[in-house]
Amino acid sequence: MTKILVIHGPNLDVLGKRETGIYGEETIESINAAIEKAAGAEKAEVEFYQSNHEGDIVDKINGTDVSGILINPAAYTHTSVAIHDALRAKGLPAVEVHLSNIYSREEFRHKSLIAPVVTGQISGFGKNSYILGLKALLETIHGR
Ligand code: DQA
Repeated sequence: MTKILVIHGPNLDVLGKRETGIYGEETIESINAAIEKAAGAEKAEVEFYQSNHEGDIVDKINGTDVSGILINPAAYTHTSVAIHDALRAKGLPAVEVHLSNIYSREEFRHKSLIAPVVTGQISGFGKNSYILGLKALLETIHGR
């Protein structure tokens, strides 16, 4: 069975309480449940990981044994050479997702250090960014 690692970066543990005008009312639990359901329909297995710590995310990427990575690097999108390097070294199919459209927000969010080392990016569709990202990732892995 195809196994996908879903990584949620910093502050995504408080989704549903955090800037709901931007990120919506969904919690990480409700997002994970929707991802799990979509994965099940595609006969894929998902492992969820959330951390507020950059080095822990690097350790998780380096140590994983999955077929692909779905990642919302959150604020580390815009700052993390370490996560960029880890994804690049791992070389797995990977999709970067964002709840909000990072290009319609502050200028410091317009640059992603992660985008050059992933298969592609989906930004701005709320919870659906994860579902669309999962589908794109699975199609990439299965060569469709
Ligand atoms: C985010 C966008 C980032 O700029 C921000 O730092 C986040 C969440 C999103 O999902 O829209 O924490 O990745």
